[in-house]
Amino acid sequence: MKDVYKIREDFPILSKKINGSDLVYFDNAATSQTPTHVIQKIVEYYENHNSNIHRGLHSLSADATNQYESSRKKIQNHFGIKNDYEVIFTSGTTHGINIVSSGLESQIGSSDELIVSEMEHHSNIVPWQILCEKTGAKLRVIPMKDNGSIDIEAFKKMLNNNVKFVFVNHVSNSLGTINPIKEIIDLSHKNKTKVLIDGAQGAAHFKINLSEIDVDYYVASAHKLCGPTGVGFLYGKSELLEELPPYQGGGEMISSVTFEKTEYADLPHKFEAGTPNISGVIGFGAAIDYMNNIGFDNIEAHEQELLKYATDRLNKTPGIKIYGDQVNKISVISFNLSNHHPSDIGSILDQFGIAVRTGQHCTQPIMDYYKIPGTVRVSLSFYNTKSEIDLLIDALEKASTMLG
Ligand code: ALA
Repeated sequence: MKDVYKIREDFPILSKKINGSDLVYFDNAATSQTPTHVIQKIVEYYENHNSNIHRGLHSLSADATNQYESSRKKIQNHFGIKNDYEVIFTSGTTHGINIVSSGLESQIGSSDELIVSEMEHHSNIVPWQILCEKTGAKLRVIPMKDNGSIDIEAFKKMLNNNVKFVFVNHVSNSLGTINPIKEIIDLSHKNKTKVLIDGAQGAAHFKINLSEIDVDYYVASAHKLCGPTGVGFLYGKSELLEELPPYQGGGEMISSVTFEKTEYADLPHKFEAGTPNISGVIGFGAAIDYMNNIGFDNIEAHEQELLKYATDRLNKTPGIKIYGDQVNKISVISFNLSNHHPSDIGSILDQFGIAVRTGQHCTQPIMDYYKIPGTVRVSLSFYNTKSEIDLLIDALEKASTMLG
């Protein structure tokens, strides 16, 4: 990888001071920072190309449409998707999941079963609970184990003829666990069960080929991988997307409208009603370019090195307990310091300019499993450094003294 200090120059926010100290940004699982390359692409769009897409014959509109559609191609290529029309732009992961969950209403009946894992983000639990309320289907839960992994043996026993869908995350946002999604997909397909993978936390850390893993649906957000907020994508196999009804009605998602009957547009437009987040989509494409330029192998190697260093240092710090010691994980560490409330630790770290997330991380079932109110979560990115981890350890030692 290019020198990490050189990479940091790409991110203006990383030279900011917070409460008098240099910002140490360790909240990358909540949202990643945005490099100048992406910011400039968005500014450039508004300065030179701003126009509505797919609507105008005029040159500016054609320009904007080209840039928007070229982002679709970038996402198609990056994620190994067969057809560009299988990439649906959304406002983010949650939106993508809701397109599928609301669309499945007519396909799911009261004898059907849907499976989630105990390690899901609320956004991959609640939409399925709503679907179950509407259809009478049963929601079942794959248990997790102490080391923060999914209990695959339990999952195998849960599969039966009634299980229509499995919804699991690629990577746990709270614990960093990388789930064995290929095994889950293969086991499910043998059972004629479809699978949706929540890729919100995985896509930022390694490259994944969706055709190779043969997943049915996959969702992710741009802002976790150096892109802007308010944009993401839903991938679905075309035959499945064809069967799903549109999520929203409106302009551009139709091929013809009369008061007697409306015909919907072909994919992907059927799911992209209204004026989309054009600059966001263009920024998303720029972020994919930026990250590929750094190289996902380099990103993974640097983040794994940081993970090992931070885990070793935290394990040697008195009072620290890390949750989820699964070996196969990304650079996310959830911990508590003695019996102190995670928000007290988070507030003290903020005084030293260190940004972490504290609480349940939208995964209350994981916290209930460990019988804790929450954790302090440090989530590291390819632009973080070992000296920032040293600052965290110093600040935690000071917090320990302050709180007694
Ligand atoms: N899902 C994001 C997180 O884990 C917001 O922080």
